[in-house]
Amino acid sequence: MHNVEIRQSRPDDLASIEKLYPAAFPEEDLLPLVRQLLAEEPGILSLVAEAGDAMAGHILFTLCAITGSDARAALLAPLGVAPELQRKGIGSALIREGLSRLERDGVTHVYVLGDPAYYGRSGFRTETGVAPPYPLPEEHRDAWQSLGLGSAPPPVHGKLQLPDVWMQPALWGP
Ligand SMILES: CC(C)(COP(=O)(O)OP(=O)(O)OC[C@H]1O[C@@H](n2cnc3c(N)ncnc32)[C@H](O)[C@@H]1OP(=O)(O)O)[C@@H](O)C(=O)NCCC(=O)NCCS
Repeated sequence: MHNVEIRQSRPDDLASIEKLYPAAFPEEDLLPLVRQLLAEEPGILSLVAEAGDAMAGHILFTLCAITGSDARAALLAPLGVAPELQRKGIGSALIREGLSRLERDGVTHVYVLGDPAYYGRSGFRTETGVAPPYPLPEEHRDAWQSLGLGSAPPPVHGKLQLPDVWMQPALWGP
């Protein structure tokens, strides 16, 4: 992965981000979600990967809470890499940089709903103590994953509490 810079997104990245998602997710329209999340600042962490002048990838984390716990948590989603630049380590680098910034900010628990074969590479493991906002079908239980940041964060139990933009059952389906 050469000449890829990861930095916090800026308002003038929106046009490139709006091109990236339909290319990375041709069968899903994530743009309404992404636009709403970008408006949630400062409750989000939004990073872009730039390869030269091109937008190579984007990742979003939403800061959130867990019922019955004072743990500081974040949800990773979505993550997209330009099709022609996939499998070059850009997605992993965006995850790594995001986790490092969240840890610096005192976040101790990060959650993701996604392919365990991919997120497992970054250290995520199936989560059973904290439930997603909507129940998942049994066959997708292993897609709900978490990662602890910092030195041995204590296990937590409860339900993830997210801003309204995330409270749409369709976002949590298979
Ligand atoms: C999934 C995605 C973000 C990965 O980003 P990336 O920059 O291509 O990934 P990396 O280069 O960091 O890692 C690539 C490795 O992950 C694996 N990988 C990539 N996508 C995968 C997937 N959907 N499931 C399982 N493994 C996957 C590859 O096998 C690859 O390993 P290899 O090259 O040794 O075979 C990117 O491919 C993408 O945007 N895909 C379309 C959108 C999408 O599905 N995003 C959802 C993530 S839940």
